[in-house]
Amino acid sequence: MERLKVAVLGAGGLVAQRLQQRLSNHPWFELVAVAGSSRFHNHALDEVPWVLEEPRPELPSITVRDVASADTVADLANNGVVLAFSSLPRAQATELEPLWVNGGIIVYSNASAFRAAEDVPLVIPEVNPAALEAGEKAPGHVCATNCTLLPLILPLAALHETYGLREYTLRSEQGLSGGGHEFMQAAFQAGTVDPNIPGEATKTEAEFSRILQWKGGASLDCNRVMRADGHHVFVEATFDRTVDREGVLRVMETWSSEHTMAHLPSAPVRPLSVVEIIDPAKHLFADGAGFPVTPDPAKNLAAGMAVVVGSVGCPASTTVRFEAYSHNTVRGAAGGVIFLAELAHWRGLLSTKPAHP
Ligand SMILES: NC(=O)c1ccc[n+]([C@@H]2O[C@H](COP(=O)([O-])OP(=O)(O)OC[C@H]3O[C@@H](n4cnc5c(N)ncnc54)[C@H](OP(=O)(O)O)[C@@H]3O)[C@@H](O)[C@H]2O)c1
Repeated sequence: MERLKVAVLGAGGLVAQRLQQRLSNHPWFELVAVAGSSRFHNHALDEVPWVLEEPRPELPSITVRDVASADTVADLANNGVVLAFSSLPRAQATELEPLWVNGGIIVYSNASAFRAAEDVPLVIPEVNPAALEAGEKAPGHVCATNCTLLPLILPLAALHETYGLREYTLRSEQGLSGGGHEFMQAAFQAGTVDPNIPGEATKTEAEFSRILQWKGGASLDCNRVMRADGHHVFVEATFDRTVDREGVLRVMETWSSEHTMAHLPSAPVRPLSVVEIIDPAKHLFADGAGFPVTPDPAKNLAAGMAVVVGSVGCPASTTVRFEAYSHNTVRGAAGGVIFLAELAHWRGLLSTKPAHP
């Protein structure tokens, strides 16, 4: 594959640094620029405090650019940058992602700002890959989903294909890193956190329906818990057809083996890993074949990309209950959006020609 020059929008945030970490050795994408807020303008990238648990990987010797400057965009586009991964907050993404797209750099985003925009595809590689190619031309702006959606939708997409989903309920226990670096630090310092996550249930429900092109009953209750990483969901779903535990396990296993994407560098070995009981500490970096406990995410791109499913049961003839778990800043953010861009590159959708010649 042609190795493309890419930029990261955001310098010192949790997702920005997960992106930098995962791009530090990426076989298809070469990190050549980081553009951030005014707090790091003109700082050498290696002066930006490293906020992830793993050691800082070797990153290019570059100076952080101004993410809000049209000159930055023009200069990078002229120097062959094709793609930018955005980890901007919603408000800044609303204003600045169009600046980058209109400046000729394709944007793949982890922000929520454009997830409901009709002309911006919202895509999960294993679930709705066709949405990437729905328009007449390759999309210049693409969104990855909310992190809570991943452990909910992967198992339900599998079951929906066979049994026809009628309605579902979800209760979540979400890691602190989902709220960003400062939020996580403040909670650890206080030793407690407000469990409410304003807007999360509405966002997750809407993205679920858009991705699966599905309408039905849903009730979601999203909660923050005192854990650094990992979103754990507790789901009960009712289907049109009758279910039994053996059949449900078989459907998940078959779907998972049919939806591997081994040609993409960030693909998990299998998207779903079914276990008896989920252990949040042990299963955080599931790669679809096993459970590395302290992998190096700068080199092991599959670690943290699988969704773990456990406690599967059928309490009634058309009802399935399960728990699922995934790494919110890996599968639910930086890993997920890079995985999506890999799919686009594989399909020839990331043009090296300027979008606005
Ligand atoms: N954390 C997750 O699990 C997760 C999952 C899915 C999606 N997301 C989304 O990813 C985005 C980043 O989340 P995060 O967890 O990385 O938050 P974070 O740790 O709080 O980092 C905030 C990021 O926003 C940037 N930023 C802040 N103010 C800015 C401004 N005025 N102009 C430009 N950039 C500014 C910062 O850039 P500088 O470092 O350059 O200041 C930093 O990279 C959010 O949109 C979030 O909703 C997060």
